[in-house]
Amino acid sequence: MPKDPDNVQSRGPRHVAIIMDGNGRWAQARGRPRLYGHHAGARRVREVVEACPSLGIKYLTIFAFSTENWKRTQVEVAGLMSLFRRYIVKEARNLAASGVRVRFIGDRVRLDAKLVELMDMLEAETAGNDGVHLTIALNYGGRDEVARATKRLARDVAEGRLRPEDVDEETLPKYLDTRVLPDPDLVIRTSGEARISNFLLWQSAYSEYEFVDTLWPDFTAAELELLCKSYGSRERRFGAVPA
Ligand code: FPP
Repeated sequence: MPKDPDNVQSRGPRHVAIIMDGNGRWAQARGRPRLYGHHAGARRVREVVEACPSLGIKYLTIFAFSTENWKRTQVEVAGLMSLFRRYIVKEARNLAASGVRVRFIGDRVRLDAKLVELMDMLEAETAGNDGVHLTIALNYGGRDEVARATKRLARDVAEGRLRPEDVDEETLPKYLDTRVLPDPDLVIRTSGEARISNFLLWQSAYSEYEFVDTLWPDFTAAELELLCKSYGSRERRFGAVPA
């Protein structure tokens, strides 16, 4: 998608992407199982989504489950999948009524059929909304996404719909899960870890990053607002020199 044409950010980010990290440590600090932290984290999602309109955030993308998260214990994985199903059932009406448009990115092949059905249902139910565009990354990995996109692109080449010499930087994004979304302006990671863990690798090439110590279940709309303000004072150059 087009990059910001004016370079200097006099306003807040339009697309914020969040790596919601720290649920496990939050629970551990309270002597509770990790899933307790994930449930607390899920409740935070609503506060953050609701804060978006007043902060001028049109697109919010959240990392709910990565392609690497399958390596967690069977209990935690099953608990997270159950949490996602319950979240969709419980939040569907609220999201639809608030004008939120929900999309999911990631590979659905490994997800259970009931969850995929609920995801499809929520996407369809909110497809006419144009408030906040909430994208939930579920069984998502940036490398996996690029590999799946490349496979589709290669198929188009093999079947004569695309010429190799026409492939450029604008081509691949059209095959990514995020093809209808602008690139994130700001990527936030909570819990003090300073890495991107395979999140939106292609899309965040020119994003601003904020790594904050807050554990995700403690993250508030007020902290998001501060990060948006700080973003507003940054100069984004996209590789160019200042004018
Ligand atoms: C990372 O914390 C968090 C996850 C792997 C799951 C993210 C899921 C949620 C916030 C729950 C709800 C989301 C939706 C959309 C309903 P961690 O477990 O790695 O924490 P740790 O680093 O402290 O162990």
